[in-house]
Amino acid sequence: MARKSHVQTTINGETVEFLCEPRQSLLEVLRDELHLTGAKEGCNNGNCGACSVILDGRLVNSCLVLGVETDGHTVETIEGLADPEALHPIQDAFLENAALQCGICTPGFIMSAKALLDQNPNPTEHEVRYWLAGNLCRCTGYDKIVRAVLDAAAAM
Ligand code: FES
Ligand code: FES
Repeated sequence: MARKSHVQTTINGETVEFLCEPRQSLLEVLRDELHLTGAKEGCNNGNCGACSVILDGRLVNSCLVLGVETDGHTVETIEGLADPEALHPIQDAFLENAALQCGICTPGFIMSAKALLDQNPNPTEHEVRYWLAGNLCRCTGYDKIVRAVLDAAAAM
């Protein structure tokens, strides 16, 4: 068995320490070691966006980042979005627009939308569509998803 590395990172505002093998992706660490199962494994090769999280303010596919690479860094996942009292406006907008069907792609879309609105609070529809191009939905709900992101931007 490979030697495990000790990693300390900040996840959703909390300092977290874990052990992981050097080959383990951030997605594997989140899901298998830390039991944060919001990020989903779709393709496991950087093509679907289901595993999207925000690393130091940048949207990343967590299946393409090694867990050890997050040492000393900051990770935001879907679990950190809502506060105890209310859903995040992006989550509300997805619900109000029925912008999900099976829901597998949804955490990735929401984290991607969060990263977009963090840097561009008032995107055009074209900008939303361009930004979300890295997220795939097999249930083909794209129009509702785009509408939800635009509604969330307006609400925020
Ligand atoms: S599971 Fe990471 S991009 Fe598809
Ligand atoms: S809602 Fe099913 S894959 Fe997007």
